[in-house]
Amino acid sequence: MIILGADASLAPAIDALRRGELVAFPTETVYGLGALATDPDAVAKVYAAKGRPSDNPLIVHVADGDLSGVVEHVSEAARALIQAFWPGPLTLVARRAPGFPDAVSAGRDTVAVRCPDHPLALELIRGAGPIAAPSANRSGSPSPTRAEHVVADLGEAVAVVVDGGPCAHGLESTIVDVTGERPLVLRPGAIPIEAVEACIGPVEVHPSVDAPDAATDARAPGMRYRHYSPSAEVWLFEGPGDPGLLRTLLRRHPRARALWIGASEGHARVESFPDAEALGHALYARFRSLDAERVPLIFVGGVPAEQLGRTLLNRLRKAASRTVG
Ligand code: TXA
Ligand code: MG
Repeated sequence: MIILGADASLAPAIDALRRGELVAFPTETVYGLGALATDPDAVAKVYAAKGRPSDNPLIVHVADGDLSGVVEHVSEAARALIQAFWPGPLTLVARRAPGFPDAVSAGRDTVAVRCPDHPLALELIRGAGPIAAPSANRSGSPSPTRAEHVVADLGEAVAVVVDGGPCAHGLESTIVDVTGERPLVLRPGAIPIEAVEACIGPVEVHPSVDAPDAATDARAPGMRYRHYSPSAEVWLFEGPGDPGLLRTLLRRHPRARALWIGASEGHARVESFPDAEALGHALYARFRSLDAERVPLIFVGGVPAEQLGRTLLNRLRKAASRTVG
């Protein structure tokens, strides 16, 4: 495996993609595990490296808003979203163009596309072509927000890791399905649903966004899998979070730690964050570092139910074995 620093030439990474090998690269959300989207053998390697279920499709990363040859039709809503949010953490699910390889789509007639807001990702795509990439973690573990996380999870399965330092957002893109009558949010992400609605008006929200156990249907294939979990147990404080209850539980569980939005009154085992953005930026990295310290139990609380807090709650409800409060 070659690790390229941010100042290195990307030529070895572009060559590796063209040869059909896997390249991990930074985006503004999380690191991606990339294969040339037009090379079905390379795309198959992505599934094998991650241990990803074969019915869970990948996002195709493009370098600009020209989707001809990738999707069949760009709806008016899709056009408005592209205009407002690309490059950026918004993924669109649209009907796949007939000629575009179906390996990335896991047998569906749709394709997910996004244009990442990261200079290294864009340089790679411009050099090699559209890149199919899921998050560069083993299936089920937290998404990688630093190059070290990719190396720890995927090691020799990756030919080249492009190290761009920590990701700006630390949470994945927001996914909007624009194939239906009304746009449908399949996964909340770094762009709040409120911001999507401010751009195109009211959208539908898939039931799995707020209830991880909601029955999934064919439109949201990724939502049925357990995601984002550390090895530690996670207990989620719903609602505003009760600091008195937190203190009691910390006393009862002397090896537990807490990640908390809002003031923590200086408890040594509580890390507090000023807002959802700050916790979102750090969450997956903390899951990994607390696992490395063999912390058995993590309390998370103070997460608001709207804006980016809704994204955090979506991830936390999937990770949590218990809700408190
Ligand atoms: O921020 C992100 O989106 C990151 C970076 C690397 O771009 N990528 C990412 O990919 O989070 P992944 O594979 O971990 O999550 C992609 C999600 C999955 O839940 C998958 O089911 C869904 O997108 N998806 C992909 N193609 C789809 C399609 N055609 N229809 C419905 N959902 C789709
Ligand atoms: Mg993922």
